[in-house]
Amino acid sequence: MRDLAVIGLGYTGLPLAREATRAGLCVAGYDVNARVVAGLEAGRSHVDDVTDADVRAMCAAGFTAAAEPSVLASAHTVVICVPTPLHADGTPDLGPVRRAATALAPHIDVGTLVVLESTTYPGTTEEVVRPILERASGIVAGADFHLAFSPERIDPGNKDFGLRNTPKVVGGLTPGCAQAAAAFYGKICGSVVMAKGTREAEMAKLLENTYRNVNIALVNELAVVAHDLGVDLWDAIACAATKPFGFQTFRPGPGVGGHCIPVDPDYLVHRARAAGGRARLVELAQDINRSMPEYVVRRAADVLGGAGRSLRGAVILLVGVTYKENVSDLRETPARPIVRLLRDVSADVVYHDPYVARFVVDGEPVARVADIVRAAAASDLTVLLQPHAAYDMDAIVAAAPRTLDTRGCTRSGAALL
Ligand SMILES: NC(=O)c1ccc[n+]([C@@H]2O[C@H](COP(=O)([O-])OP(=O)(O)OC[C@H]3O[C@@H](n4cnc5c(N)ncnc54)[C@H](O)[C@@H]3O)[C@@H](O)[C@H]2O)c1
Repeated sequence: MRDLAVIGLGYTGLPLAREATRAGLCVAGYDVNARVVAGLEAGRSHVDDVTDADVRAMCAAGFTAAAEPSVLASAHTVVICVPTPLHADGTPDLGPVRRAATALAPHIDVGTLVVLESTTYPGTTEEVVRPILERASGIVAGADFHLAFSPERIDPGNKDFGLRNTPKVVGGLTPGCAQAAAAFYGKICGSVVMAKGTREAEMAKLLENTYRNVNIALVNELAVVAHDLGVDLWDAIACAATKPFGFQTFRPGPGVGGHCIPVDPDYLVHRARAAGGRARLVELAQDINRSMPEYVVRRAADVLGGAGRSLRGAVILLVGVTYKENVSDLRETPARPIVRLLRDVSADVVYHDPYVARFVVDGEPVARVADIVRAAAASDLTVLLQPHAAYDMDAIVAAAPRTLDTRGCTRSGAALL
């Protein structure tokens, strides 16, 4: 009998499997991607925060990964960590969650604890996962088996906070389900917080990410306003941040990336509309953040225009193309629409990123430069998108004839967003 089976071995599932293995639990993983499974079996990690050595240590401690769901049989606890993306029309795509629940259903037993960790709208655990599990298993959630939601709060690249020292919220279908989930996570996490139910736990995660999204939209909008007013917003933010209470710092940038912050608010927007209401501020924040790549390109045109040049035929060096600093994740990176917009006006786009060996936009690779300082000197405009710690920003700005700093990460000599 296994202690834990994890469905979906990506950015959230793999660290969970690692921490559970480290806690001495017997863990298995199921992922539909056979390449992911083969890599793990060969001791290779595909996730930034998990090293190859971690994977080898997990395997040595008994962890097994499989591309077929029979591995889910006879596990005490099963945690679902599959993606929750959007359909092309912007509505929630719960296909992976449904397929994971369908694959799991024949394997659950009386007493099994099933936890959904994928970020989703309130009601998913009860209205989507529960009926799938009950129909195929013939047993009842809350009476025969336990069902709960626990939001994943992982922050890729964060060295200070991980699964162990970030409080874990759990919401159960019944108090008994919550107890079972709290007992399980208590083996791995330092602190467990009980929500009133699954919906409150689902909402807590959407609140956390929407809070970030809305506040980023606020400073992004203020960046545009401040530029028009001739104000250095980054300086104003640094001043405001000295207030010891009532203010949390958010910084503007070229747009919001990753597959959480820009995506999760749409789950809330959709659910609010389905219930006959509107999450107006959330919708507006999405609009503002999604307009930032266009604004970056407009500012790039301004900076070149100031030197009597246009974007057409200009060599534009993009510095750092991942969605976040010091990680290799390209999902929803604003660099992608920026490349698209620059190509539309026939600019010659090149990029540098120590974390990205190949950057393909709309099927066409962006040319990669090896020596960033030399490339900055040879470009017409250098656009700082991601301040990876490895960069010497002063050296880049000194070499470049013109720099547009979208992150406020340079001291002087660059045009700000
Ligand atoms: N990455 C983060 O920083 C983060 C943080 C908090 C919450 N989340 C949420 O966690 C969930 C998972 O995100 P992730 O970043 O781990 O995704 P991911 O894409 O890194 O990993 C998901 C894995 O699930 C597998 N998969 C997809 N469908 C499957 C199925 N039906 N059965 C089995 N395996 C399946 C995929 O092959 C993939 O390996 C999402 O809801 C996301 O919003 C992610």
